[in-house]
Amino acid sequence: MGKIGNDVKSSTDAADYREIVLGLRDAVFVIDGNGIIRLANPAAYQLFGLLSEELIGKPFGLPFSGKETTRVSIRRRGDGRTIQVEMKVAVIEEQGEKKYITSLRDISSILETEELRSQARVQEKVKEILTRDKDDFERQVRERTGQLIKSQEQLEKASRLSSVGVLAATIAHELRNPLAAIKMAAYSIKQKKDQPPDKQLETINKKIEESDEIISNLLSYSRLKQPHFEPLDIGPLIEETAELTASRFSQKQVRVKKDLRELNEIRIVADGLQLKQVFSNILNNAFDAVKDKAGEIDIIAGRQDNDRIEILISDNGPGIDQDALARVFEPFFTTKSKGTGLGLSVTRDIITMHQGEIGVTSEKDKGTRFIVRLPLKQQ
Ligand SMILES: Nc1ncnc2c1ncn2[C@@H]1O[C@H](COP(=O)(O)OP(=O)(O)O)[C@@H](O)[C@H]1O
Ligand SMILES: [Mg+2]
Repeated sequence: MGKIGNDVKSSTDAADYREIVLGLRDAVFVIDGNGIIRLANPAAYQLFGLLSEELIGKPFGLPFSGKETTRVSIRRRGDGRTIQVEMKVAVIEEQGEKKYITSLRDISSILETEELRSQARVQEKVKEILTRDKDDFERQVRERTGQLIKSQEQLEKASRLSSVGVLAATIAHELRNPLAAIKMAAYSIKQKKDQPPDKQLETINKKIEESDEIISNLLSYSRLKQPHFEPLDIGPLIEETAELTASRFSQKQVRVKKDLRELNEIRIVADGLQLKQVFSNILNNAFDAVKDKAGEIDIIAGRQDNDRIEILISDNGPGIDQDALARVFEPFFTTKSKGTGLGLSVTRDIITMHQGEIGVTSEKDKGTRFIVRLPLKQQ
């Protein structure tokens, strides 16, 4: 290579360029006018995975246009891998013969990194969009959820009004008047006192009360009113309701134990009529559940904390099995031949409107306990 520098010539010296070609890191081929490889450097053998004798004197085989840089993919014989190469071509004249010098560079790894980069850019972009739209998305979800809940509530209300509402209105209309008449008749028989048929009278009265209860629950269910809140003495209210319910089941010999002392002097803000319905519904079920004579019902009440009272109503009836326990508050769920399945549903709704809570625990053959919690004040 000594000649370069001292003796620069205008045309390429053949020996010079051959030496340069052999030392280049890019693969270089010298191809004659017939497309036959006349010279290839070690980088070229490596690129194709071939020996020199497999290249020299063989057709080059790759299409080349003569000037611009082109990209071609080739399959390497050695490892069978397909690689991407960038091909440059230059035309020279050597001893009057036209020859092509082509250089090939493996750009697979460059392309791979480029692809990885553009993938990374796409991911970056997606991330950016997602974070930018996250708040918007969350807001939309909140809005949609709100709408759904609202329309579900409306639907529930509408179906209450349509199905049960019609039924309740009809039953109320059909039954209320005759019931009032029976009650009047029973009263006047009792007044006359000539051989008073006490047993029958009692039965009549009991039936009336029962029917009245059914009507009340049906009506409440179909158009449960917002509570009319006012301060009331909760102890006496429970006492009174328990007594009234017990009198309805007077033919059943059930022991009712009450411990309401802790409620002495406690007033809570509530709807008195609705709370009477709550306790009478729970107690009715308890009386239904217990046996004559062996039956026991406990009502224990007191403060749960500074803001709440708690009322526990337990019975020693047969209990509620696991599947039924999950459903007792469902409207129309009943295991009784003449039940409406509305008592506990109405009860729960009333308690919810009072910002209170109701729960039930039960053990097979041991009994059932309802827990009612009510706040002292309403917000
Ligand atoms: N104390 C209880 N003991 C056993 N089962 C009960 C008790 N309270 C409620 N249940 C069950 O819950 C069901 C639903 O009660 P409720 O809503 O009052 O409707 P209904 O009394 O008309 O059946 C009852 O049919 C009964 O199976
Ligand atoms: Mg009931």
